[in-house]
Amino acid sequence: MNATGQSVNRQDGRLKVTGAAKYSAEWSLPNLAYAVPVQSTIAKGTIESFDLGAAQAAPGVLLVMSHLNRPKLAPPETLESVGMQVGESVLPFQSNVIRFNGQMIAAVVAETYEQARYAATLVKVNYRTETPFVVMEEGRDTAKKPKGNNGREAQLVRGTPDSTFASAARKIEATFKTPHEHHHPLEPHATIASWEGDKLTVYDASQGVGGPQRALAGMFGIPATDVRVVCHFTGGGFGTKGGVWPHTLIAAMAARVVGRPVKLALLRQHMTTTTGHRPATDQVLRIGSSTDGDISAMRHDVLTDSHEPSRFFETAAFASAVLYEVPNFAMEHAVVNVNIGAPTYMRAPGEAPGTFALEVAMDELAYALKLDPVELRLKNYAEMDPQKKIPWSSKQLRQCYARGAEMIGWKDRRAEPGMLKQGRYRIGYGVATATYPGNRQAAGARVRLYPDGRAVAAAGGNDIGTGAYTVFRQVTADALGLPIEKVVFELGDTTFPAAPVAGGSWLTASVAPAAVEAAEMALQAIAALAVADARSPLKGRRVAELSFGEGRVFLEDQPKVGETLAAVVQRTGQPYIEACARAETMRAARDSGGLKQRQKPPCVLVEPSAETDRDEEKYSFHSFGAQFCKVRVDSELGVVRILDWASVMDAGTILNPKTARNQIMGGVGFGIGMAMSEETPYDPRNGRPVARNLADYHVAAHADVPNIQVEFVNIPDPHINRLGVRGVGEIGIVGVPAAISNAIFNAIGRRLRELPITPDKVIG
Ligand code: MOS
Repeated sequence: MNATGQSVNRQDGRLKVTGAAKYSAEWSLPNLAYAVPVQSTIAKGTIESFDLGAAQAAPGVLLVMSHLNRPKLAPPETLESVGMQVGESVLPFQSNVIRFNGQMIAAVVAETYEQARYAATLVKVNYRTETPFVVMEEGRDTAKKPKGNNGREAQLVRGTPDSTFASAARKIEATFKTPHEHHHPLEPHATIASWEGDKLTVYDASQGVGGPQRALAGMFGIPATDVRVVCHFTGGGFGTKGGVWPHTLIAAMAARVVGRPVKLALLRQHMTTTTGHRPATDQVLRIGSSTDGDISAMRHDVLTDSHEPSRFFETAAFASAVLYEVPNFAMEHAVVNVNIGAPTYMRAPGEAPGTFALEVAMDELAYALKLDPVELRLKNYAEMDPQKKIPWSSKQLRQCYARGAEMIGWKDRRAEPGMLKQGRYRIGYGVATATYPGNRQAAGARVRLYPDGRAVAAAGGNDIGTGAYTVFRQVTADALGLPIEKVVFELGDTTFPAAPVAGGSWLTASVAPAAVEAAEMALQAIAALAVADARSPLKGRRVAELSFGEGRVFLEDQPKVGETLAAVVQRTGQPYIEACARAETMRAARDSGGLKQRQKPPCVLVEPSAETDRDEEKYSFHSFGAQFCKVRVDSELGVVRILDWASVMDAGTILNPKTARNQIMGGVGFGIGMAMSEETPYDPRNGRPVARNLADYHVAAHADVPNIQVEFVNIPDPHINRLGVRGVGEIGIVGVPAAISNAIFNAIGRRLRELPITPDKVIG
């Protein structure tokens, strides 16, 4: 039986539950020293001087490093030339300028962690303080309008949105707000850096080993092949571990200076300042429709904040451009630079806050028209990408709505708010649409067949808790015709064939096809060896006559004539037979000079087949889904309980229903946190985050999360890759806050357009 498509348990499950999985902070290197950062307590200004005497004299201190004595790093432009973005865009310790509260301005390195942490408290900083700019809304009039983001336009007009809206029979116009949020993965960032001569090895909590490798090589001016990054396990990322943040560079700088391996492990408090966040948004949605619900115009204007010179901004209106068939559409993104740490990608960046506005506004329109909210969405269903005017690669959203409505019991919903009562509680139902791009990147993988019949495959990608190890193991086992117990998949090392960062929901869609290609190439190598070997029962046959399965190579017509893969490997006398593959998208192949197969040691570049490999000029790639929920609102106390959830997702082929379901459950839970409690407020006087622990920043806990029903349409996307698989990492959060806000309206008739929906707003 094929392993692909089965609910196979995680390859790394036992390691994790027994504590044997080694996370980045847990490597013990001989002679390890410990670094603790010193952070700025002002948000803007300069460092005039340090008083370091006490810190330097403290027990065990090896080094106090700052802009005064650090190794010089290459200028930041170098980063872009190596294709790497350091999260903060401004490198640590390169000048005395302070740009946000919490900026790392010095680091103490000592023999023990406790000594470093104590000495760090003794560092005295003399600042020249300037008035910081903290409140986004105050910069509205001078906000910048970025042209685009990753090749997609950020300012867009199609048709005549404003005049059509002005003359529309029904109009919705509303303002929505989402706050700053932090990723807060369970595992805080940590880096251990170790130099041997000019070669650097780094254990780094990361979503991708390739990024830190390129950044460190660029910053220290050494070849990427001299930097090895290892990260076998990542305790959650959600975007915060997708880039390279200052602590990683500081650990490497400090290790260079003290001539010993250095560990820099962040505290939970550090995670609120120097490792990114989701920026706040202030969004205005305008939708115009006919009296029977045909949407004629839409405008989505976004104000958000960022941190100069970072070019990251929250692309909150992107989903609005494609989700419904809207002939006249405009979007605008305006960005205010503030003196708080740099923002970054956070689970479904853009889509998560953007669809809160869009999908609540759609609900408002449904009520204004007295239409069922599902019916309104079906009426305006986009049969093709309304912006690019090309077909979807695959879209099964109708099925998601229909099945989700059944699962939640939508027929029990009453159109009029407040009709379903349970004592002092009101019950409400809500729906929202989910979408996220179906991304894919070039990726490599290798497969080694061993003489004992086992196979070990590897790729330089990372499993950040998603199940990547497991699904890659499944597809590799099937491609090799081996039982899954005979196959191990390894990830998280730059010595493996390069693969993309685990972000953008693209890792599975990128690496799985490469793993299958590598497995097939390994079997071809076995076949070629067998037919050429006098000791093989297949000697003299043509490779085309052969077939593979159950660990054997045999004649397709006479399956009894053949031998085990292991026997072929044994006779070579080699430790293993290896094949590498690199699977590319059409765009990557075009960018790298055409579709011709190229030899690029150690990997063979596989020629993409024209019909199956994500040609984004022909097809628009998106995953879709429907989120349905049932809530209970205490209309006196404002307390909301989410009673039931149904999430139906169209993400192409589902390789492993169990791990995919985990991803959607995680996304819905994340969305419940976003909807109900998550918020990092900043002190407007000094730009300091005032929710710096998991008590003040409440992520959804078990008691906040109901039973989450998850189903997948599980129809392959015929155009993204040979497996038909898109990603499921981000789409689970999309639409969740809107579905909850819509359900609360259905329960009590109160429209909530600002996150998080805390009880004061519900009764306010
Ligand atoms: Mo994702 S926010 O691209 O890690």
